[in-house]
Amino acid sequence: MNDVERPAGDPGRRTLLREVRPYGTGEPVDLLIENGVVAAIGQQTGTDADEIVHAGGAVLLPGFVDPHTHLREPGREDAETVETGSAAAALGGYTAVLAMANTDPVADNAVVVEHVRRRGREIGLVDVRPVGAVTAGLAGQRLAEIGAMARSRAEVRVFSDDGHCVDDPLLMRRALEYTRAFGGVVAQHAQDPRLTPDSQAHEGPNAARLGLAGWPAAAEESVVARDCMLAEHTGGALHVCHVSSAGTAEFLRWWRSRATGGSVSAEVTPHHLLLTDELLETYDPRYKVNPPLRTDEDVRALRAALAEGVVDCVATDHAPHADQDKDCEWSAARPGMLGLQTALSVLVRTMVRPGLLDWRGVARVLSEAPARIAGLSEQGRPVAVGEPANLTLVDPDAEWTVRGAELASTSVNTPFEGMVLPGRVLATISAGRITARDGKVEPVGGRF
Ligand code: DOR
Repeated sequence: MNDVERPAGDPGRRTLLREVRPYGTGEPVDLLIENGVVAAIGQQTGTDADEIVHAGGAVLLPGFVDPHTHLREPGREDAETVETGSAAAALGGYTAVLAMANTDPVADNAVVVEHVRRRGREIGLVDVRPVGAVTAGLAGQRLAEIGAMARSRAEVRVFSDDGHCVDDPLLMRRALEYTRAFGGVVAQHAQDPRLTPDSQAHEGPNAARLGLAGWPAAAEESVVARDCMLAEHTGGALHVCHVSSAGTAEFLRWWRSRATGGSVSAEVTPHHLLLTDELLETYDPRYKVNPPLRTDEDVRALRAALAEGVVDCVATDHAPHADQDKDCEWSAARPGMLGLQTALSVLVRTMVRPGLLDWRGVARVLSEAPARIAGLSEQGRPVAVGEPANLTLVDPDAEWTVRGAELASTSVNTPFEGMVLPGRVLATISAGRITARDGKVEPVGGRF
């Protein structure tokens, strides 16, 4: 198979999922997958399937799509690789991930993005879609080779300097204009660098008490407001990465209530839906992340915004870091947290169990909305006959204890270490093939 061909699953292969509940509603049904698509839904008597999964009434959802993952390849394979990150993604219920551009070398040209996409295909666990850098070398001086990346075999549609803000408004304007021409999206890491020099923690009483330089919410909110206006002015598509403050949620609510040109979407991370800056008391660098953990009030506002659709989707911002970069004093530690294998469970704890989202809502925020934003036509589809079989099977009642060392990532920097979380991925089916089942990956290679 060359790089452009994409088979529709395995010809002739039949997989039967027995007793599943699509979107967690109704009586259990059987679902037959054939040639990579959903072939039948209803009571199935046939036993001639190549494999049968006994689901026992588990919840069946469209496969999860992560619009924001760091796979660290090329350059920091000691922290993560496309292979180990793909395994973590499949185990977490993901059928597609967008791999951020802050690699070394930076993904600011066709060669690097094609490498990442090709590795994803060779491994075959999840559809790995590279994100291209907005500016050359993430340096914020001039645009990267956006057109070349879009036209490359990696088919890049989303561009981001994540980890850095595109703070020059003229460059941001040009990026929105340029990407509009081919239906691309600019995903902004909203952080005014002049408001956050040496920042280490959310600016507030906790940072002051602990002697950590502050990262004020206004540094995010002011960039989001500016970029929304630029998206309207240019007609371009803006995606706001990792919304972290009540003020940003409030601004987006107001912005989206107006008729505007351009398009604005936004994501929130699981850690910002659960954790607060009170955890910094321990000076444990596993809680260091950018944007920082904020307050209870922010957490409540972010949950409400996600429930309402003001924030469209959940993004893990899975950010593996090698021990020497994370297991050190607070000020020297890199910001970032693992997220692929815990996202579903954190969402169950913060949104499903408190009644803020039902399983249809989970499908929306973990699959449909991110697939739409990233322009992935095979992902985020309804669980229905004739649709591509990208599916995730979830046990809503299971509880498990998070142990970083047991996760598939090369790194162990989970902020949920030792927590007992609800909800577990039982199986992931990607392009018609089981990629993860019962906590183990089943690699096949050569797809997508
Ligand atoms: O905490 C973070 N880590 N935030 C980012 O924006 C970048 C990421 C990383 O690459 O480690």
